[in-house]
Amino acid sequence: MLSKRLQAVAKFIDKKDNLIDVGCDHGYLGIYLKTNNLVNTILLTDVNKNALSNAISNIKNFNLNIPTILTNGLEDVATNQYDTISISGMGTSTIKKILNPTKLSTISKIIIQSNNNLFELRAFLKTLGYRLVDEITLQEKNIWYVVCLFKKGVDSSKFLKYGIPKKDKILYYKYLINNYQKVLKNIPIKDMEIRKQYLNEIDLLNKLLEEC
Ligand SMILES: C[S@@+](CC[C@H](N)C(=O)[O-])C[C@H]1O[C@@H](n2cnc3c(N)ncnc32)[C@H](O)[C@@H]1O
Repeated sequence: MLSKRLQAVAKFIDKKDNLIDVGCDHGYLGIYLKTNNLVNTILLTDVNKNALSNAISNIKNFNLNIPTILTNGLEDVATNQYDTISISGMGTSTIKKILNPTKLSTISKIIIQSNNNLFELRAFLKTLGYRLVDEITLQEKNIWYVVCLFKKGVDSSKFLKYGIPKKDKILYYKYLINNYQKVLKNIPIKDMEIRKQYLNEIDLLNKLLEEC
């Protein structure tokens, strides 16, 4: 059974997509997509030999034929044969290194679930010429995940900081507000400027909550 997090990544993939899943690890996403006929072509990559071996043996167990490449990011991948990339379960700094602009000319869609620094991630994709189109926000085993869908185009989104306000963001925004309030409690009254910054973030999140 695919995790809720990877199911959310899969939701943004279309039957016509030619997908590279970078950092596939166990290969579960690719196996799920191929088994259910949810993708046109798919390539699985990983930088770690053991991870890719696991993926290869899982692919065999499912009697599937899915190509794999052992490589760092997109380095040895002929990306011009693909139009979609998924990257999940990594941090934003690793993802930024993987998304080498010289490798993206045919890539019209990028699906990313980063484990941290989502503002930096969304802003980076904007500089690469991708716009934030949609997001799925979910909680699994007490951890919040945001899966972002980017498509080629100019981003004029005002939602780069906290993402797109949708129903599934309500509890997430409340969680962020709660975290900021906890930090705020420990900031001495004399540190007006720092307190103001936190209060501004809480204010912004409350406004976004109204838009959900
Ligand atoms: C936590 S796992 C996530 C696996 C899967 N994508 C998921 O979301 O469940 C991260 C995987 O990314 C791989 N990885 C990390 N840096 C990478 C890079 N620069 N290029 C390719 N794979 C990388 C790791 O080896 C590991 O298998």
